[in-house]
Amino acid sequence: MKVGYRFFILVVSLILFGIIDVCYAQKLNNNFYKETCSRVEKIVEEIIQNRSRSNPTLGAKLIRLQFHDCFVRGCDTSVLLDTVNDSKAEKEAIPNQSLSGFDVIDEIKTAIEMACPKVVSCADILALAARDAVSAPFKKWLWDVELGRRDGRVSLATETSGNIPGSFANISSLIQLFNRKGLDVNDLVVLSGAHTIGVSHCGAFSRRLYNFTGKGDADPSLDGAYAETLRKQCPNPASPTVTVEMDPESSVSFDNHYYHMLLQNKGLFVSDAALLADRNSNRAVIQLQRSPYSFFPAFAKSMKKMAAIEILTGNAGEIRQNCRVVNPLK
Ligand code: HEM
Ligand SMILES: *[C@@H]1O[C@H](CO)[C@@H](O)[C@H](O)[C@H]1NC(C)=O
Ligand SMILES: *[C@@H]1O[C@H](CO)[C@@H](O)[C@H](O)[C@H]1NC(C)=O
Ligand SMILES: *[C@@H]1O[C@H](CO)[C@@H](O)[C@H](O)[C@H]1NC(C)=O
Ligand SMILES: *[C@@H]1O[C@H](CO)[C@@H](O)[C@H](O)[C@H]1NC(C)=O
Ligand SMILES: *[C@@H]1O[C@H](CO)[C@@H](O)[C@H](O)[C@H]1NC(C)=O
Repeated sequence: MKVGYRFFILVVSLILFGIIDVCYAQKLNNNFYKETCSRVEKIVEEIIQNRSRSNPTLGAKLIRLQFHDCFVRGCDTSVLLDTVNDSKAEKEAIPNQSLSGFDVIDEIKTAIEMACPKVVSCADILALAARDAVSAPFKKWLWDVELGRRDGRVSLATETSGNIPGSFANISSLIQLFNRKGLDVNDLVVLSGAHTIGVSHCGAFSRRLYNFTGKGDADPSLDGAYAETLRKQCPNPASPTVTVEMDPESSVSFDNHYYHMLLQNKGLFVSDAALLADRNSNRAVIQLQRSPYSFFPAFAKSMKKMAAIEILTGNAGEIRQNCRVVNPLK
């Protein structure tokens, strides 16, 4: 009896510790590289500061790269891998919608491998680099980045569709895609606010200007005068090389101006305009538009969630030595 009881306690404790261990392994933290690479944040910061000076659009490139990474196989930098075999990698998905910033990540990775080889993941580098680049015009970090992610070994172009929302997505499919990643309607509205910086190619929205329903018509939900301005910038058919600012009145400043545009029916994509179509998302848009200062903490909170989607931690995945290729098998 007594032995049975002790055995019971032992089993229960083993299970409990097992659960605690699993939860702990899932958790990222701020001191992950304290012992192994204490200079990691400084190295990223220096390179991003330098690069941002000559390239103010870097923040837009890197945060979009992080979004596309996290929504396909989680934040494991599958998006950074080059194609090595017959099946194309994520970055070659058609359309890969002009992702860029890969060279900056390479530069950082090279510097970090020199300082502390084989300990810092590409996934953590991307999370830090995106944060630092978007924050560059500010005197402080706009959000906190916890560390401890590991890198994946698989990247498939075929997994992009169905995970990355298209520019013509309606509100129900946007909500569904975000829900599948553990993000709610509020996160959807808040993170879409990243469209306050950066540019888009005409092809992502030109159907709204010229042929919305296939009858040579414009999208009636798009402000008429704004549509006219956009038609001047994007003649039909859309040129693959022309881009327009997504938030033209405040394109380089990371702020809540995107929500002002939405409420004037000047959201660029169908997916932007769609945020007005649902009661909850509409309420979130109005709230973010009215109080400029609520945007920053809200964005920080949702970024933290996005940056933790399906992450690899503990012994899962690997620490890639070159962000473009998986490590050779031992
Ligand atoms: C809600 C669903 C979303 C859709 C449908 C969407 C779609 C798009 C499209 C079509 C472009 C233009 C790409 C091009 O033509 O070059 C774009 C650009 C951009 N997106 Fe999104 N996006 C979404 C969410 C997000 C999120 C969550 C973020 C980041 C948190 C983000 C950040 C950006 C940025 C910064 C750009 C500008 C990139 C540049 O200037 O190079 N987007 N997005
Ligand atoms: C800063 O960038 C320039 C060119 O982009 C490069 O020549 C220089 O070495 C960089 N400096 C640092 C400290 O990274
Ligand atoms: C995007 O896809 C095209 C065509 O598949 C490819 O030529 C290009 O290199 C890709 N871009 C990136 C950044 O990999
Ligand atoms: C090579 O292709 C196969 C599918 O044919 C895929 O499972 C594998 O992950 C690919 N290699 C890399 C490095 O992605
Ligand atoms: C939204 O888009 C999805 C996917 O394209 C489609 O299946 C669905 O019918 C659309 N819903 C509405 C309400 O239009
Ligand atoms: C408009 O769309 C319809 C149906 O998709 C297509 O047949 C027509 O050629 C398009 N017109 C223009 C001007 O692009």
